[in-house]
Amino acid sequence: MAATSLASRLFSLLLTFIVLGALFVETNAKADANLVRLLGGQAVNLWRLEAAREAKQATTLEFGRPQDISQAPLSHEHEETAAGEELRRIRGHWFRQPLDHFSNSSRTFRQRYWVNTRHYRPNTSAPVIVLDGGETSGEDRLPFLDTGIVEILAKATGGVGVVLEHRYYGRSIPVSNLSTDSLRFLNNDQSAADSANFMRNVKFPGIEEDLTAPNTPWIYYGGSYAGARAAHMKVLYPDIVYGAIASSGVTHATLENWEYMDIIRRAADPKCSTHLEKSIRTIDTLLAIPRVGRRLKALFGLANLQHDEDFVSLIESPLGAWQAKNWDPEVGSTEFDKFCEALDEPLRGHEADGLTYDEDAQLVSLPNGLSIDLSVFNYAKYIKENVVSQCPEEFGVEDCFGTFDDAKFQETDLSNTWRLWVFQVCTEWGYFSTAPPLDQPRIVSKLLTVEYESMICRQAFPPGEHFTVPAMPNVTAVNVLGDFGITADRLAIIDGEVDPWRSCTPHSEYAEEREDTVLRPFKLIPNGVHHYDEYGLHNITEEPPEILKIHEEMISFVTEWLKDWEAPTSQQRRPNTNARSKIRWAVLLVWTDINLSRSRHGCVLIQRTPIIVGRRKKMSSPDLCVRFCRIQPTGLRPVVKAILDFNGSM
Ligand SMILES: *[C@@H]1O[C@H](CO)[C@@H](O)[C@H](O)[C@H]1NC(C)=O
Ligand SMILES: *[C@@H]1O[C@H](CO)[C@@H](O)[C@H](O)[C@H]1NC(C)=O
Ligand SMILES: *[C@@H]1O[C@H](CO)[C@@H](O)[C@H](O)[C@H]1NC(C)=O
Ligand SMILES: *[C@@H]1O[C@H](CO)[C@@H](O)[C@H](O)[C@H]1NC(C)=O
Ligand SMILES: *[C@@H]1O[C@H](CO)[C@@H](O)[C@H](O)[C@H]1NC(C)=O
Ligand SMILES: *[C@@H]1O[C@H](CO)[C@@H](O)[C@H](O)[C@H]1NC(C)=O
Repeated sequence: MAATSLASRLFSLLLTFIVLGALFVETNAKADANLVRLLGGQAVNLWRLEAAREAKQATTLEFGRPQDISQAPLSHEHEETAAGEELRRIRGHWFRQPLDHFSNSSRTFRQRYWVNTRHYRPNTSAPVIVLDGGETSGEDRLPFLDTGIVEILAKATGGVGVVLEHRYYGRSIPVSNLSTDSLRFLNNDQSAADSANFMRNVKFPGIEEDLTAPNTPWIYYGGSYAGARAAHMKVLYPDIVYGAIASSGVTHATLENWEYMDIIRRAADPKCSTHLEKSIRTIDTLLAIPRVGRRLKALFGLANLQHDEDFVSLIESPLGAWQAKNWDPEVGSTEFDKFCEALDEPLRGHEADGLTYDEDAQLVSLPNGLSIDLSVFNYAKYIKENVVSQCPEEFGVEDCFGTFDDAKFQETDLSNTWRLWVFQVCTEWGYFSTAPPLDQPRIVSKLLTVEYESMICRQAFPPGEHFTVPAMPNVTAVNVLGDFGITADRLAIIDGEVDPWRSCTPHSEYAEEREDTVLRPFKLIPNGVHHYDEYGLHNITEEPPEILKIHEEMISFVTEWLKDWEAPTSQQRRPNTNARSKIRWAVLLVWTDINLSRSRHGCVLIQRTPIIVGRRKKMSSPDLCVRFCRIQPTGLRPVVKAILDFNGSM
């Protein structure tokens, strides 16, 4: 009892200095943000330690005034150029949104966005290229407005570049705390409706021309979670989203995402994977033996960490660095490679430590009687020096790395930004990073189960008055929108060959093969990790060949799409200029459950995607349409409202 209260007092002390530090988290803790997307409760521990470390480092900075990077140079390359001067002046703007789009009396909040008009050619039907900020502050996405994909496409099309911050993230925060009730408007339906409302009504400061959708072609781009959102926007709002690009778009939501680590196992240097597999086998075996487990944990500096699950989830954390790799050394992390090198270190200075080493067997014998593989010894050393060392001396390892104390996750003030993505995971997306089935090779412990990884959902979000987090996330809410098969004309799917999220994208091994066409691009970047195409150099010809290639392809299909664009008012007057040899049909489907009074917004989809069919295929039966549209909201029936050929009208 006494020990618990001491621990929780120490922990709240830790929290105090973290709260101060949180002002700086938004722009600094990027590697951590990857972990929050991955590792459940343990990631929250690591997020806090990182935040505390940043806070300590930032003591020379003024508290109470977070740095506003929207007014800082976006990249050093531009400091001397006129364009750099222009971007330095770029400021966030605000768009008013209802907090609840599906009620007629909702209060509103301000959603932040940034605009780049550097390449804008007025009155030329130039597009708006909008980048969805996804699950982080929009400020983190600003570089893409300067040298990344938004800049590249805006330059190629004479368009306007926009970064749109996601509700609840960055400063687009509609609530005063992050309690379960306050978070209930953070969901897919509401955030999709935000984007649609923005596209239909935004009036960009300083621009006279009406650039709203559908009067202007909008190209909707997103990477990762925002990539799934880009695809969703294309099928939910085909009337206003002219084109969309889903990069590493995780359109398949799942409870158990064991494939994540398995992709890393298969893609990493085989030597490194072998070390990891061997280590994990040893670790799982030793943990199961009473008293030996504690000696093993001691080697990692974690003897006093009570729960083996916390131990194995902590030692899993270096693997999260794979996702932070990037082709651009300016932004990429090399941590994964360093970790692999550390596992492969020869044993040095062991005699002084009282160790004996059997070189042939690569077996290290410790003074405490344990004999382990050299890779486990190296693994322990790495964790002790790089992870455990982050725990301040005045705290025990249980304070820093334990996840079983519910009180740790119940602070709801706004500084706890980790709660946002975790809430989305717990309600709709899942993605609990678990061990693979037991008969498969693995580089993470078998103790990593859904029960353990989802514990944080119950700890952090007790039932509120207006909302209860479901026992398990309702991944159907995501998958009903198309899942692996999501498809539409002018929806591009771009993924990375060795992206750990690949198994949740349309390039998953579970997904059906597709053709890559101009109308429905389907591209895999060789050796690509996570949304590699989102990043770019100012001079794209200096990019690595695979990145330059994808950028050129993207420019090419987007400009092709734009050639087909016709403003809605002139649609009837213009002749059909479509040169493709196939007949194009537009099918208007309404999804309904007959009892129209029961259909709520978001359940009735109007699907107006033009569908290409061969001449011999008949389009008379609704079933056929269903197969082509691939979207079948459960419990709802498609009703064909109209079938019109490309030249015809309703
Ligand atoms: C707005 O909502 C209220 C309560 O739900 C309802 O009584 C009212 O009829 C609605 N008004 C409109 C214009 O839909
Ligand atoms: C664009 O068109 C509008 C409306 O026709 C006109 O008022 C405006 O001057 C034009 N802008 C430019 C830069 O040509
Ligand atoms: C969170 O904010 C809501 C609305 O402002 C308020 O009613 C509630 O008491 C707050 N909860 C906590 C735990 O601060
Ligand atoms: C899950 O989401 C789907 C699609 O939105 C919905 O139809 C279903 O009722 C939800 N299930 C639960 C248990 O809430
Ligand atoms: C871009 O880089 C290429 C290759 O280094 C170089 O030839 C070209 O001049 C550069 N273009 C600009 C505008 O700097
Ligand atoms: C239709 O929905 C309303 C409202 O939920 C319900 O009262 C009514 O019984 C339903 N009718 C049928 C035929 O299901």
